[in-house]
Amino acid sequence: MFARRVMVVGTGYVGLTTGACLASLGHEVVCADIDTAKVERLRRGVVDIVEPGLSELVSEQTSAGRLSFVVGNSAALASFEEGRSPEVVFLCVPTPMGAGGVADLRAVESVMEEVGASLAPGTVVVNKSTVPVGTAERTAEMLERADIGVVSNPEFLREGSAVKDFLGPDRIVVGSDNQDAAERVAALYARLGAPTVLTDAASAELMKYAANCFLAMKLSYVNAMAELCERVGADIADVTEGIGYDRRIGQAFLSPGPGWGGSCLPKDTHALLQVADAADFEFRLLRATIDTNTRQRQRIVDKVRLAVTGKRTGSLSRVRLCLLGLTFKAGTDDLRDSPALAIAALLRQAGAELVGFDPAFVDGPEALKFRDGEPAPSEVEGVPLAADAVSAAQGAEAVLVLTEWAQFRSLDWSVMAAAMKRPIVVDTRNVVDPATLRRAGLTAVGLGRRSDPSDN
Ligand code: UGA
Repeated sequence: MFARRVMVVGTGYVGLTTGACLASLGHEVVCADIDTAKVERLRRGVVDIVEPGLSELVSEQTSAGRLSFVVGNSAALASFEEGRSPEVVFLCVPTPMGAGGVADLRAVESVMEEVGASLAPGTVVVNKSTVPVGTAERTAEMLERADIGVVSNPEFLREGSAVKDFLGPDRIVVGSDNQDAAERVAALYARLGAPTVLTDAASAELMKYAANCFLAMKLSYVNAMAELCERVGADIADVTEGIGYDRRIGQAFLSPGPGWGGSCLPKDTHALLQVADAADFEFRLLRATIDTNTRQRQRIVDKVRLAVTGKRTGSLSRVRLCLLGLTFKAGTDDLRDSPALAIAALLRQAGAELVGFDPAFVDGPEALKFRDGEPAPSEVEGVPLAADAVSAAQGAEAVLVLTEWAQFRSLDWSVMAAAMKRPIVVDTRNVVDPATLRRAGLTAVGLGRRSDPSDN
């Protein structure tokens, strides 16, 4: 394998993981960011995001001399050894979808303006972030350099398992209208031995949306199926286990929940819908996927209302509720498009009084090491935070489990029950054993479960 000189622009989720992982594959990597304080922290090995194994990898690769962090792109270019320049430049900068489905490529544009003219002939520029279809083509237009190849190499990593996903990918996707450039990017990953799809740039760009939208569709399907289970007296866990053994369906991504969220699935489903609209294609399946997800949040609120008041139209005014888990899923401190927060907003509108607890936002020995010494916040988007689950449950008329943190499963639920005003647990992730809750004297309400009290 040839070690390559790689420059990574942007040290966000994708950029930092890409930089650290490519260094671990033996490449010489320089990561550039405009945030001086962040670069300082990264040089000290402090990683701002909760990502298992990432800070260790950053420290290890920095000490090994394969990974470095620099403020600004020109400085990064200059920091390669005398007379040498990067062979591959990864663009890991934000590329939001602008009005009318057109890519907002200002970040890419400013990088190209800054360093485009200084890149050596034969350099390959790679779009790694999720970018709207057509971005590679527009990047090439901005560059105005026929001697530089532009490649789309979408990333499929999940938050919370980014390093594992990067180093053990299901596939590598490389798309370009320049075959040689595409092959050189594919070669960077050769050691991983993953299936590699070599294609044109537009197909590679679309593939990323196609994957995320398919996953969103799978989840909306499962949430709808859970609702149907409730109506016909079936059990979603059995149904998903049974269908999951079919290899064409697979066991993964079949857990019902309060709706899918995060920084990717909501953004990408809307973006693809815009792409379809712009192409004059009515993508009904995708629209239904999004609508089902929006409805899921209201469905959780309806469940809470029924469980607490005994009526579908009962009032939640001044009802105290404890929310366990506020991030968009367990194992992260990311609150972007969190279904838990969307549900919290609906509950607040209905007059409920909320107290939250999330293991991502605690101080002390249990604290996740991502805030670099800063104390945990005392509230998240208007939801006051308690220091532990039992304090959050104090006086609550119901506890809602909104993310699947393992510690919610192993809580001492009899202590929780003693703290609560009324014994109701609405488990929107079906993670806490209903028998354990019942033994603690609690009424368990989950999604699509045969054992739950009927709410029809
Ligand atoms: C997602 C994709 O899974 C990655 O492949 C992709 O690279 C990434 O977006 C991206 O585009 O960058 P991520 O946003 O980290 O990754 O989150 P997921 O683990 O996919 O979860 C998405 C949402 O679905 C979460 O709200 C999660 O709680 C929910 N979910 C997931 C369920 O409700 N049930 C499941 O069985 C799985």
